Amino acid sequence: MAVMKHLENQIAVVTGAGRGIGRAIALKFAAEGADIAAVDLKTDFVQETVEEVRKLGRKAWAVAANVSEAASVEAAVEQILKEAGRVDILVNNAGITKDGLLMRMSEADWDAVLDINLKGTFLFTKAFSRAFVKQRSGRIVNIASVIGLIGNAGQCNYAASKAGVIGFTKSVARELASRGVTANAIAPGFIETKMTEALGPEARTALLKQIPLASLGQPGDVAEAALFFASPAARYITGQVLAVDGGMVM
Ligand SMILES: NC(=O)c1ccc[n+]([C@@H]2O[C@H](COP(=O)([O-])OP(=O)(O)OC[C@H]3O[C@@H](n4cnc5c(N)ncnc54)[C@H](O)[C@@H]3O)[C@@H](O)[C@H]2O)c1
Repeated sequence: MAVMKHLENQIAVVTGAGRGIGRAIALKFAAEGADIAAVDLKTDFVQETVEEVRKLGRKAWAVAANVSEAASVEAAVEQILKEAGRVDILVNNAGITKDGLLMRMSEADWDAVLDINLKGTFLFTKAFSRAFVKQRSGRIVNIASVIGLIGNAGQCNYAASKAGVIGFTKSVARELASRGVTANAIAPGFIETKMTEALGPEARTALLKQIPLASLGQPGDVAEAALFFASPAARYITGQVLAVDGGMVM
């Protein structure tokens, strides 16, 4: 008997799809029947993701864009709508950290993190909102962070950007609900990717003490939550923030 896939023939855009959480989301969605527009700074970055999606029997498009630049986003969205024809799901995942204590934080590091994490989410969401409203359906899944909920010493820029993503998500959820479009956020805790690779053994041990489930998360754990928000199962859910963090924040 054929197994029912959750995203059969849906078209999903995933930003920052070249590695880490973004790649895991792209592959999970493809395994569930979706075609994927994989966005990252350079098309080279998404080559592996695109090949793996195709191996799963789905279509994949490699799209280069800097999510923080309006012109770059507009060109990418135009390319996606032209090549894919339609978009059903948008996952705003591209993000960076530039950590430092408040008193030593440069304006450049503040701006870079806010521009990519928050403005990038705004630009991509705005660009697809017209199509979503017109087709009276659409799923927006924004990748925030538990740091946006509880803050973190040394990450005031990152925390502000992710708290911003949460407020943005709730506002968009309210604006677009009557048009059949949902917007939800995921707040990952500590997930094993390039972003968290730099943690030394001491930081890791200290961290594990704060996680009730006593291990770091995997990109696939975040992908499962993204799949839920994108799937028909979540049709009556909007404006929510789901922590995927081993119980760190409760
Ligand atoms: N890893 C964690 O523990 C963790 C925890 C909470 C939230 N997050 C969030 O999850 C998301 C993915 O993180 P990750 O750990 O997979 O990071 P990662 O650094 O492994 O991957 C991020 C991807 O985004 C791309 N990217 C960066 N800047 C971009 C830009 N301006 N335009 C387009 N693409 C860009 C990178 O090239 C990369 O492929 C981020 O938003 C991050 O803040 C991660």
